[in-house]
Amino acid sequence: MTEFTQDDIMFKPGLMKGQRILITGGGTGLGKVMAEACVLLGADVVIWGRRGEVVKAAAQELTDAHGGLAGGRCTGMAVDIRVPEAIHDAMDEVWAGGPLTGLVNNAAGNFISRTEDLSPRAFDAIANIVFRGSFFVTLDAGKRWLAEGRHASVISILTTWVWHGGPFTVPSAMSKAGLNVMTQSLAVEWGNRGIRFNAIAPGPFPTEGAWARLNPGSTEATGGARPKADPGIPLGRNGEMRELANLAVYLLDPGSAYVNGQTIAIDGGGHLQGGGGFTRLAAWGDKEWEAARNSIRASNEKDRAQRTV
Ligand code: HXC
Repeated sequence: MTEFTQDDIMFKPGLMKGQRILITGGGTGLGKVMAEACVLLGADVVIWGRRGEVVKAAAQELTDAHGGLAGGRCTGMAVDIRVPEAIHDAMDEVWAGGPLTGLVNNAAGNFISRTEDLSPRAFDAIANIVFRGSFFVTLDAGKRWLAEGRHASVISILTTWVWHGGPFTVPSAMSKAGLNVMTQSLAVEWGNRGIRFNAIAPGPFPTEGAWARLNPGSTEATGGARPKADPGIPLGRNGEMRELANLAVYLLDPGSAYVNGQTIAIDGGGHLQGGGGFTRLAAWGDKEWEAARNSIRASNEKDRAQRTV
């Protein structure tokens, strides 16, 4: 299912014609939403994901819905960004179709857990995607841009926990904080060669992948409908997908060329009011954590069965 018509997007039709954007984790959730806005505005978009069928079906859907006069289109590739060699080979293939003008580090893994319950493998399951994977993708594309003297815009999808910590999501909070520092560091190191780095820190934009692991049971409880807003959000609602997509397009486009090294929160002011994280889970006991773990495990199993890389 697609999300947008041109009326949802605040930019003129064809804005992104001539741009070529890679979005990791682009087959579902926020990645797909950002891909959709770019295709709608005429960009040539490549989406990567571990589930080959899912990513290819999403690419076809976006091209069918929005490829058209502006020339937008989307290609899906099965790529596991935990494997640096796989990134390199896939990037060769991307470049063979034309150099990228932008990259969105969106792929992530996360689940709520008491930190004392995490094994080394559990930490790696998150950090290998978010921290290492995003860096290796950035490095592989970056080397090509530098060697060819090309300008580009890189955005990373973080969370507001990069500023005040993320209790019960420590591997994710640590990994995304690392990407926040990568954003600031490379904005300076590569900025003088035309490669910009910015980040988006979204508050609650409910998606199936995240909510199954961060609010286990919540999507079943709402019959699959998008959940209600956290009372800790000053604006009293969750984010709308078009709001996130508009910000991503702005940062990718040369229209924002003087914005560099910034992490922009889009959370209705939630992190200013009370952290917006999982502090409330401090009240949970063993029973609640066991139920959460079982629910997350079931989601992970379902996800793993669909992976093709
Ligand atoms: C404790 C857990 C656990 C849990 C798994 N593990 N779930 N430990 N509590 N609930 C442990 C396992 O026991 C195992 O360790 C290790 O983690 C690896 O588990 P696997 O199931 O084999 O991992 P894997 O197949 O790699 O999948 C895990 C995953 C997966 C990476 C988290 O869910 C995934 O790929 N998710 C992608 C989609 C996603 O998570 N999206 C949400 C992103 S939201 P042992 O030692 O037992 O072997 C986000 C920020 C949102 O990033 C911010 C919102 C405000």
